[in-house]
Amino acid sequence: MDSIRVTGGNRLNGSIPISGAKNAALPLMIASILSPETLTLENVPRLTDVQKLAQILNNLGIDVTIAGKRPGQGEGYARTMRLNAANIVDTTAPYELVSQMRASFWVLGPLLARCGKARVSLPGGCAIGTRPVDMHLMGLEKLGAEIELDSGYVNASAPNGLTGTTIHFDKVSVGATHNVLMAASMAKGTTVLENAACEPEIGDVARCLAAMGAKIEGIDTNTLVIEGAQTMHGTTHTVLPDRIETGTYAMAVAMAGGDVMLENARADLLQSALDVLVEAGAKVEASDKGIRVSRNGNGIKPVNVETAPHPGFPTDLQAQLMALMTRAEGVSTITESIFENRFMHVQELARLGADIKLDGDTATITGVQRMKGAPVMATDLRASVSLIIAGLAAEGQTTVNRVYHLDRGFERIEEKLGNCGAQIERLSA
Ligand code: UD1
Repeated sequence: MDSIRVTGGNRLNGSIPISGAKNAALPLMIASILSPETLTLENVPRLTDVQKLAQILNNLGIDVTIAGKRPGQGEGYARTMRLNAANIVDTTAPYELVSQMRASFWVLGPLLARCGKARVSLPGGCAIGTRPVDMHLMGLEKLGAEIELDSGYVNASAPNGLTGTTIHFDKVSVGATHNVLMAASMAKGTTVLENAACEPEIGDVARCLAAMGAKIEGIDTNTLVIEGAQTMHGTTHTVLPDRIETGTYAMAVAMAGGDVMLENARADLLQSALDVLVEAGAKVEASDKGIRVSRNGNGIKPVNVETAPHPGFPTDLQAQLMALMTRAEGVSTITESIFENRFMHVQELARLGADIKLDGDTATITGVQRMKGAPVMATDLRASVSLIIAGLAAEGQTTVNRVYHLDRGFERIEEKLGNCGAQIERLSA
């Protein structure tokens, strides 16, 4: 299994190209199920989660092709993916595949809408919490689906098709919103989703669904009004830039010091996180080229932050912010309000010398003046990258094991950071 070794102490200077967003690319790929025509996606990131989902869609009968490299495209060129679901031959997503990639559960709504039935494995728990799917099922039932749970699978059918209605989510859920939004795009009549998630990736998918034929109002708000289409068309859609990757590299610069241009990044997608970085002492300048982040000379200031659904501070940047705060000049608090168990990185940061106390959903971080590299291990994607950020400012070598978590969501991280002067290398086992 590969690991990544970081030798701390170097500042970061240069530019980092921001990739297409994983959390938009995955549901956009799934949206291809809705149409017999080709959906072309531009700016698709090269990630193992994308590959795994392509395999799952392949099993359903969807042809997935990826355009090859073209003249002038460097190593990190974004990919164009074409998905054609003219012939869906299977409506089952098995446990072996869904358990490896949670977002694949979202095939349920589109399969039901297009084929009238679906059998999809329940995704099960994961390192960051129990992550139930009750609201996905509630939403689909309200649209008229008959749902049965059987041996770890959801068996869903809609013999008379889906019909629009008003659905209120008790809690904001990104996944439930994606799943029900995609299903509602082909339901008869009008669906109103109240207390829907309004993460930018949902807006991106909604824009694509609108180009495919659904009529959608309220995009980027908590209330979506969807008028379903009988048949959905193909279209070409460009995946929006990854705000979590953007925030992660911004925090890496704040940690290591230096001056980096995050190319193609969009400040409007992560304003709350950028505000926190400014409070922590980083300089942030947004332009139409991207976001320039620097920290030169001044120390890191402590902050008090609580994660929240968009436009609040994203839970997917919580671990990275905690890594940064381990070196702040004072005491910070971070409250995790989305996932109950998302503190797996705390023990590993402590191995590097961090001073963090946990009390329920709140971590109190007392900044320390120095940290020392060590071998560490992480159990989820965002936690792994927080250890790399910590390693950038720790003395000596930090080796992050189980890098497959990183490869799920960060494209060529060692190359992107290495090009800016970090001492970082991948070790193949
Ligand atoms: C998505 C993101 C993930 C991010 C999370 C929160 C993708 C591929 N993943 O995950 O990176 O951390 O949003 O921004 O986009 N819940 C229920 N019942 C449900 C569904 C969810 O109680 O039916 C709860 C969850 O346990 C959690 C909260 O709602 O406490 C939010 O989860 P949700 O927004 O659904 O996260 P995901 O869609 O799994």
